[in-house]
Amino acid sequence: MTPFPLGRPARIAVLASGRGTNLEALMAAFPQGHPLGEVVLVLSDNPEALALRRAEARGVEAVALPWRGRRAFEEGALALLEARGIDLVALAGFMRLLSPRFVDPWYGRLLNLHPSLLPDYPGLEVHRRVLEAGEAWTGSTVHFVDRGMDTGPILLQARVPVLPTDTPEALEARVLKREYRLYPKALRLVLLGYGFPPGEGVRALVGEAAWARFQALPLKARPFHLLALGFLLWAGKARLAPQAFLGRGGPWAQGAFLFARLVAEDDPLLREELRGLPEEVRRAVEEALFRVESPL
Ligand code: GAR
Repeated sequence: MTPFPLGRPARIAVLASGRGTNLEALMAAFPQGHPLGEVVLVLSDNPEALALRRAEARGVEAVALPWRGRRAFEEGALALLEARGIDLVALAGFMRLLSPRFVDPWYGRLLNLHPSLLPDYPGLEVHRRVLEAGEAWTGSTVHFVDRGMDTGPILLQARVPVLPTDTPEALEARVLKREYRLYPKALRLVLLGYGFPPGEGVRALVGEAAWARFQALPLKARPFHLLALGFLLWAGKARLAPQAFLGRGGPWAQGAFLFARLVAEDDPLLREELRGLPEEVRRAVEEALFRVESPL
């Protein structure tokens, strides 16, 4: 269903078009020698991108593939990813749309970071639009990339408050700070095998009734089911997945959904509920959370 965990450090490539502060966070979280994964390649469509200089400063291979049309860029990038034995690709401020030629073979191993609570506010000028709409909350989303623009299955989201005094710049700065923790965590979820996109593998595991119910869920609710399934798989309780998806399944299912929620947001109320679970379940959830939260 997912190639992860690999049982060796994953080789990570980052594609960035600009300033690269999220790239910096990813390189800090996955440095050379990290047992889970290492950023080994940074690619940019913009030779002037600060992201390339940041990679060089950390001794990470930095390659500019100046944009001369989609086809040329994608062919160059695909060849390089293959030559470097890349396992996972993270888009971090990469401002080009990738075609099915690129996206399809990498589906499930290609992530994007977008500065809104998708499916709300896809596209550009997000913070200005959020302010104009008078939203009280915004945030950021890590999702698997599919053929659309900012449409792929959501992996993880983080909420950020909007203040009435915010300018687009102030809001951007607040969201960015949140992203520096969100993106590395999302990558850890994938590399550890807790995070994967929905597909035939999931359908086979949960069965038709649960799959139908899952597909009827709002897009923002689906990631919690997927992370809960990831937890059940990891805990050796995959047989409970169909019931869990149907809202049953007892304490293991309950623990799985608490895990999924606590990964997204450390809510004290939910932490308290965790204490009410049987010892074995609580321990499994705490261990899983530790693995996801811990930088090593
Ligand atoms: C980030 O906020 C990211 O969410 C956004 O660009 C910024 C990149 O900043 N991505 C998109 O808008 C993609 N559509 P950075 O270059 O400093 O990491």
